[in-house]
Amino acid sequence: MTTRKPRLDGKVAIVTGAGTQSEVPGTGQATAVLLAREGAKVLLADRSEENAGKTLAIIEEEGGTASIFTGDVTRSADCRAMAETAVSRYGGLHILFNNVGLSYPGTVVDVREEHWDEIMEVNIKAMMLASRYAIPAMTASGGGSIINVASIDGFRSGWSYNVAYETSKGGVIALTINMAVQHGRDGIRVNCLAPGHLHGAFTAGLSEEHRELRRRSTPLGTEGTAWDVAHAAVFLAGDESRWITGVTLPVDAGSSIALPLSVLPRDEGGILPDSESARF
Ligand SMILES: NC(=O)c1ccc[n+]([C@@H]2O[C@H](COP(=O)([O-])OP(=O)(O)OC[C@H]3O[C@@H](n4cnc5c(N)ncnc54)[C@H](O)[C@@H]3O)[C@@H](O)[C@H]2O)c1
Repeated sequence: MTTRKPRLDGKVAIVTGAGTQSEVPGTGQATAVLLAREGAKVLLADRSEENAGKTLAIIEEEGGTASIFTGDVTRSADCRAMAETAVSRYGGLHILFNNVGLSYPGTVVDVREEHWDEIMEVNIKAMMLASRYAIPAMTASGGGSIINVASIDGFRSGWSYNVAYETSKGGVIALTINMAVQHGRDGIRVNCLAPGHLHGAFTAGLSEEHRELRRRSTPLGTEGTAWDVAHAAVFLAGDESRWITGVTLPVDAGSSIALPLSVLPRDEGGILPDSESARF
């Protein structure tokens, strides 16, 4: 019997927002844990040392290698220090998981201007800043993979009236495409994950009723978790995806390919019970 080599053996990764603000794992935490489980050395970047500490405890318990970098990814100096820390602690940089994001409600008529500005800064500008300092370090390390966390709300209107969030996530997809084209020859692949309406730290406060509605609105009819995003991230991070760049991969139980009526069960009006003879 052969023992499988960890898929990310020898790689160094940065995960932004690697902590979790609730008891439910977030996409940052789950991805950091899976990257470490696959052999990567992981820098857990978070502005909250306490949140990042929860992730560090899991990785250390499992025998993985990780450490905390405390900083705010909306600040250029912190992003520079983050890349430098990965290189000085672990000898290089190969993977950047750009995960930090936030949301406030509102349409263009009533969204608060300061909320709009904060969302654009945290959801898009921070990815640009983190990448700005990571890319030269990755190129010097022989190449790398950047994974930006968008949302299915970035290419179709989402479940709540939060136009700033959805616009920012559309921007993340455009950012991904441009970075992929502009840095391909530097040995950098850039892809995007578009999570659907999963149950994770980011949405941990939603009611059971709302969770059920989200589950039922997908073709698979099951509830997703941050681990579903993390498994996709491991694939995009490693050499198995070496010929994939610039894509946006939905991780959403198929919700982005379905219209509301199409996911209704046949006996709930998706197709009328006597449809054998019906003409539409
Ligand atoms: N759960 C969902 O339904 C869903 C769906 C689509 C996309 N997403 C995306 O997933 C990501 C959520 O990440 P998570 O699940 O890890 O959530 P999370 O809200 O728990 O955030 C993770 C960490 O980010 C840290 N953080 C926040 N702002 C920071 C900053 N400026 N600098 C450094 N650290 C900061 C927090 O301290 C926290 O520990 C977001 O980008 C969100 O848009 C979630």
